[in-house]
Amino acid sequence: MGGRIFNFNAGPAALPLPVLQEIQREMLDYGGTGMSILEISHRSKPFEEILDDAVVRIKRLLKLDARHHVLFLQGGASMQFLMVPMNLALPGAAVAYVDTGTWSTKAIKEARNLGKEVAVVASSQDRDFSYIPKEIPVPSDAAYLHVTSNNTIRGTQFHRFPESGGVPLVSDMSSDIFSRVFDVEPFGLLYAGAQKNAGPAGVTLVVIREDMLERVPKALPTMLSYRTFVEKKSMFNTPPCFAIYVVRLVVKWLEETVGGLEAMERVNRRKAALLYDYLDSQDFYRGTAQKDSRSLMNVTFLLPDAQLEQAFLEGCAAAGLGGLKGHRSVGGFRASLYNAVPLEAVEALVEFMKEFARKNG
Ligand SMILES: Cc1ncc(COP(=O)(O)O)c(C=O)c1O
Repeated sequence: MGGRIFNFNAGPAALPLPVLQEIQREMLDYGGTGMSILEISHRSKPFEEILDDAVVRIKRLLKLDARHHVLFLQGGASMQFLMVPMNLALPGAAVAYVDTGTWSTKAIKEARNLGKEVAVVASSQDRDFSYIPKEIPVPSDAAYLHVTSNNTIRGTQFHRFPESGGVPLVSDMSSDIFSRVFDVEPFGLLYAGAQKNAGPAGVTLVVIREDMLERVPKALPTMLSYRTFVEKKSMFNTPPCFAIYVVRLVVKWLEETVGGLEAMERVNRRKAALLYDYLDSQDFYRGTAQKDSRSLMNVTFLLPDAQLEQAFLEGCAAAGLGGLKGHRSVGGFRASLYNAVPLEAVEALVEFMKEFARKNG
C-alpha cells in the first residue's frame, strides 16, 4: 500500500484506493483536455458529463425513479439541519424529530431557531443515546419525521426505519449512505455530507422527491431553496467540482468493482460482525451501544481503565491502525468501518486488540 495505514477515521475518512489512484492518474490531464479537473470550467462539457453520470449512478444505486432529484449542495450536512425545516415545514403542522444524539439534537435546534413547532416524538437521551428508540409515535399531521439513520458519535443505527403512516421521512444519512440496501419509498428527502462514505469533504448529497418541492416557500433566499438547485441541476452557482468528481468515482467503484449495494452490505456486515463478535467474546473492552442498536459503520468501545488509553492509541499507531480515538464529546474509542475500509483492516484491528488485552488485562 506504499506506506498507507488502515484508516478508521470517522470523517473525512478512508476513500477506496482505486479511486485515489485514478485521481492521481488523471490529476494533470483530465480526459485528454490537457488540464486538471481542478482547472476546468463547471460549464464545460467534461464537467457536465461528470455531474450527469454521478446523478445517473446514484439513482441506480439507491433505486430512485423519475420523481427523485439528486442534488449536490454545499454547507455540509449542518446546512441541511436548517434547509430541511425552512423548505419542508407546513403551515400549522409540527415537524417531528427523533433525538438519537448530537447530530439529531443539532437538527432539532435549527428547526426551533427558525421558529418551527418541533415535536420530539422519541429520544434515547435517558440512556446516554446508547440505543435507537423502538416506539416512535408519529403525529399523522406532521410535516415530516426526521431521523438520523446512523449516529456517528454514539455508534447506533436504525436497522428498520419507523413506520410513519404516510408522513414523509427525512433522514440524515451522512454516515451510512451507500452502505446498505434500503427502501426509498417512504422518504421525502435524504441528505448526506459526502466525507464519510461518498467522497471528500465539500459536497452534500441531497435526494428530494418531486412532491416535496410543492411545499418550498416562494420567498426563501435563493441559495437556501431546494427549488433553485433542482431547476438549475445543482449548477445555480459554481458547484464543488472536485468533490463531485470524486463522488462520481466512488459511486462508479461501488457499481463496477464492488457490485452494488447488496454486495457492499454483505461486506459491511462481515466487517462489523468480526469486531462485534470479538467485543462480545471477552470482558476487557466494553461496547457502548446497546446490541440491538449497533451501527455497522461506527463501532464504539471503552477500555477498562482510562489510564490505558494513551498506550492503546500508541500501540494502534505502531501497528499501522489510525483514526480510532472516540469523538471528543464522548471519549473512548471508535472504529469507523465505512465502505472503503477493507476486511483486512478489521482483521488487523481485532488482532491488535486481542494482543493489547492479553498484555494489559
Ligand atoms: C450523522 C452526521 N450528521 C451531520 C454531520 C455534520 O456534517 P457536516 O460537518 O458536513 O456539517 C456529521 C458529521 O460528522 C454526522 O456524522
